[in-house]
Amino acid sequence: MFINNKILKLNLQYTNKFNKYIRIYRWNPYLSLKPWFSIHPLNNNLNKSMILDILILIKDNQDSSLSFRRSCREGICGSCAMNINNTNTLACLKTFNNLDHKFITVYPLPHMYIIKDLVVDLTNFYNQYNLIKPWITRKTFSKNIHKEQLQSKLDRLELDGFYECILCACCSSSCPSYWWNYDQYLGPAILLQSYRWILDSRDFLTKKRIKFINNKLRLFKCHSIMNCTKTCPKGLNPAKAINFLKYKITFNGEGS
Ligand code: SF4
Ligand code: F3S
Ligand code: FES
Repeated sequence: MFINNKILKLNLQYTNKFNKYIRIYRWNPYLSLKPWFSIHPLNNNLNKSMILDILILIKDNQDSSLSFRRSCREGICGSCAMNINNTNTLACLKTFNNLDHKFITVYPLPHMYIIKDLVVDLTNFYNQYNLIKPWITRKTFSKNIHKEQLQSKLDRLELDGFYECILCACCSSSCPSYWWNYDQYLGPAILLQSYRWILDSRDFLTKKRIKFINNKLRLFKCHSIMNCTKTCPKGLNPAKAINFLKYKITFNGEGS
């Protein structure tokens, strides 16, 4: 990692009176520069602000070239996932005063190809999501195919803890197995989603779904490292979903 010293000096010169700074990973493919940090002082009256609000403030007032994704600002779209002080999380859920360090350091999600600054390439992640067919599939000759597909309250409860995933990719990009095998291992987010569709009582593809997952690379590259569960900003447990899948296949003999 390289710090652009000019920017560092400039920022620090007029910012000694501030107690905290945010340093942001920067890289622009259109400039022949190595990656650098831009460093910005944080005023104390920003104390209760979300990190996302601070990034927007910097973009609006100091550097319009700063790039990051965001949409809902409510922790439901998953766009603003990034690495803040060594934890993958959502910038719109992380408040400035929760972070004790003098420097708040913001990186893009780790082990992802970077498009610019904090924006990573999620093409592989979404292609893998597509592979698990994330939609309800009914028998095409069913009479009720065009009607609302109901399920009992109990069946609906089965989905709790799994349907809430917002596909932010914080868990997958924290998983060492996914770092080294991202092209073959599906990773915790996609496996959790897969389990969500396997559980759905309205779906008719259950057997095929398990068969697809039953693969030493797609599923069994998970070595129970648990980073995924530790980091999920929605408090979900992808490792639990993966263990359920492994159990189904190994002990219940499903998926063969
Ligand atoms: Fe994000 Fe959590 Fe879903 Fe992983 S399981 S994609 S961390 S919401
Ligand atoms: Fe990775 Fe989570 Fe498994 S961190 S190895 S997916 S338990
Ligand atoms: Fe949507 Fe942060 S902006 S989750």
